[in-house]
Amino acid sequence: MELQKLTVNARAAQINLEVERIANRIVRSYDGVLERLHLGGRAAKYDDVHYEFIGGPADSLRKKHYDKSLRLLWKGEAALPWSSFRDCNPYERELIDLAERSFSAEERSIRNRITSAEFKALLDREYTLEQKHAIVAILSAIGHGEAYAWLVSASLLPQVQSTGAKAALTMQILEEAKHFVVMRELMQAFGVPIPRQSVWEYLLLEGALKAKGLDKFFGMNVLVESIALSLFGVFASMPGLDVLRLFHLDESRHTALPANYFKEFPMSKWQQRSPLGRIRRLRMTLPALPLIMLLESDLAVLGIDAFDFAGSVMRKVTHLSERAGFLKPEDARGQTRFFNEVFNAYCKATRDDHRYKNFMGAETTTGEAELAVEREAFGDVSTAA
Ligand SMILES: [Fe+2]
Ligand SMILES: [Fe+2]
Repeated sequence: MELQKLTVNARAAQINLEVERIANRIVRSYDGVLERLHLGGRAAKYDDVHYEFIGGPADSLRKKHYDKSLRLLWKGEAALPWSSFRDCNPYERELIDLAERSFSAEERSIRNRITSAEFKALLDREYTLEQKHAIVAILSAIGHGEAYAWLVSASLLPQVQSTGAKAALTMQILEEAKHFVVMRELMQAFGVPIPRQSVWEYLLLEGALKAKGLDKFFGMNVLVESIALSLFGVFASMPGLDVLRLFHLDESRHTALPANYFKEFPMSKWQQRSPLGRIRRLRMTLPALPLIMLLESDLAVLGIDAFDFAGSVMRKVTHLSERAGFLKPEDARGQTRFFNEVFNAYCKATRDDHRYKNFMGAETTTGEAELAVEREAFGDVSTAA
């Protein structure tokens, strides 16, 4: 390429190089000493010499989470045409137009007519006021959880090692942001008051946000996301709520992230099994029990037994905890027995004619697609890339 080279002062250039070399040595040595003394030092765990984050590329994490998330990226405008979202690019809009051309005249007119008002009319037709209150009460718990999922995933970003893990987590942050804003519009369409967080949600979510280091992975990706995944598994087949299928797919990837991360960067035996760590994680789990008891009457309005739901959630939490290395197999079996005892004791005290039931064996996710997604997520560490 023809470029007109300019002349510069060679001596000035040499001095600038020398000054930079000396300043670099001073700044980096100073930060290195602070770091060794645990007094701070460089904030970014970034290795600029190798053009990589500390921890290396971890390409397999990038492929399983970042690349896959981008492939499965969905837009609010396409999923909820009645909403205020205008996030499709021109090609996506063109694809939607093409798909609509293959609709029958009646299908096209239904889609075109679906405005916010008509979506609200659909909800009014499909659900009684009591059912709408129950759905909003349950889903708003997850809606508030999405706000925390956004914050927790963002706060984990500096803490995970490797370029691949940071790329994976960045997609989770993006997806949680989308879940929060899309869920808000969906909830508002029901036209009933959206309740505040119950104290149990407050404790559960604050616990996950305040957890130190990789314990956040347990609080959010294992515990809270398993509850969210299970609720989306229940609701995705209900009229007007099929967008939750897309949430369900995203959450299944998020629940797989800790185990995939620890495969690359294993926790130390102490991190995994220290009695203090187990107590901290058990304390994080405890608010989930009164939360489920609190939601029992709302779930009952929708024909769902709260303890079938609780068993279905806690089985998944136990399985993910064991797989990520937070629990030994014998402790996982003990935990399963413990939850079954607690659920049965509560039902015996509050229900007529209660007979002992293996609640931890229950499955409340319906819908073939959702069951297939969960089989992939819980069958093994998600290796699909
Ligand atoms: Fe989410
Ligand atoms: Fe999530």
